[in-house]
Amino acid sequence: MHRKISLTRYLVEKQHNDGRIPPELRLLLEVVARACKRISLAVTKGALGEVLGSADSENVQGEVQKKLDIIANEVLIEANEWGGHLAAMASEEMDDIYAVPHRFPKGEYLLLFDPLDGSSNIDVNVSIGTIFSVLRKQNDDPQVIDPVSAADFLQAGKQQVAAGYCVYGPQTTLVLTVGDGVAVFTLDREQGSFVLTQEDLRIPADTKEFAANVSNMRHWDAPMTRYIEECLAGKEGPRGKDFNMRWVGSMVADVHRILTRGGIFLYPWDRREPNKPGKLRLMYEANPMAWLVEQAGGAATNGRQRILDIQPDQLHERVSVFLGSKHEVERVTSYHEAL
Ligand code: AHG
Ligand code: MN
Ligand code: MN
Repeated sequence: MHRKISLTRYLVEKQHNDGRIPPELRLLLEVVARACKRISLAVTKGALGEVLGSADSENVQGEVQKKLDIIANEVLIEANEWGGHLAAMASEEMDDIYAVPHRFPKGEYLLLFDPLDGSSNIDVNVSIGTIFSVLRKQNDDPQVIDPVSAADFLQAGKQQVAAGYCVYGPQTTLVLTVGDGVAVFTLDREQGSFVLTQEDLRIPADTKEFAANVSNMRHWDAPMTRYIEECLAGKEGPRGKDFNMRWVGSMVADVHRILTRGGIFLYPWDRREPNKPGKLRLMYEANPMAWLVEQAGGAATNGRQRILDIQPDQLHERVSVFLGSKHEVERVTSYHEAL
């Protein structure tokens, strides 16, 4: 009989068979998945669960927080703080890091998350998600966990030991990498568990589909404008082929489509906030997505540099993002380099 492989079994086998993950990391990933199940449940209730609408507060980026931003953040903290696998957490929705309280045991991992990605889509019932990234606290002495500070989080994306996201869409889907490819799990609501539904995801190197908020075009710089204008020119233009456009407005859903059928996602610098390198956040959004995309054979840059090589200076640092099908990312990156 063909047995379904649960996330738990998948992770246990990763721990025992190939020694790819230590037991504490396995526990961490199971706990994150459990938190995502709870968030999924809250999302599904919608107006009936009184989870829609604004919370009337602002995050560190000056964005108005939605009720679900705060609920998801709390769910992730509550689920993860007591297990002994973490030293601290950092979130898009918290100004400072959240060190594991002294009453709980501590571990060597650092968990970062965008608890609710696609906030503007919550109230209109469009796919949203949770994005997460896991780092290890770099210590000379592994026994020394305290004190932990924001500086411990300032590691390049290539140092990640696990990354993933969960999309709350028509299905709830968890996508994960621990550095040996990308696996997809679908939430079986009757069983209450994530079931492996795809392994070894690959993004085709070529694509005819791009994802960008083209309403911002007048604010872009020349390389970005050139790339999109060439796509829009279609068969008659320099690219000699027609392109299709998709923009969900939730990075998690746009990236999920790209991991599923290819495409390129672009969120460039723009003139409205010239001192910020982009809208998206390096540590909570770009790094985990860049690693997943690279693990699936795609590429991810900020227009000039591989995202995973960027050394962060600040926890809430922003970045330009070009990711997805390799040849398209290489093309738009070469346009920036030529400038
Ligand atoms: P968040 O909801 O976590 O603040 O992220 C929203 C991000 C990302 O999900 C999406 O790609 C982008 O903002 C959408 O931007 P536009 O408003 O320009 O469409
Ligand atoms: Mn986000
Ligand atoms: Mn968010």
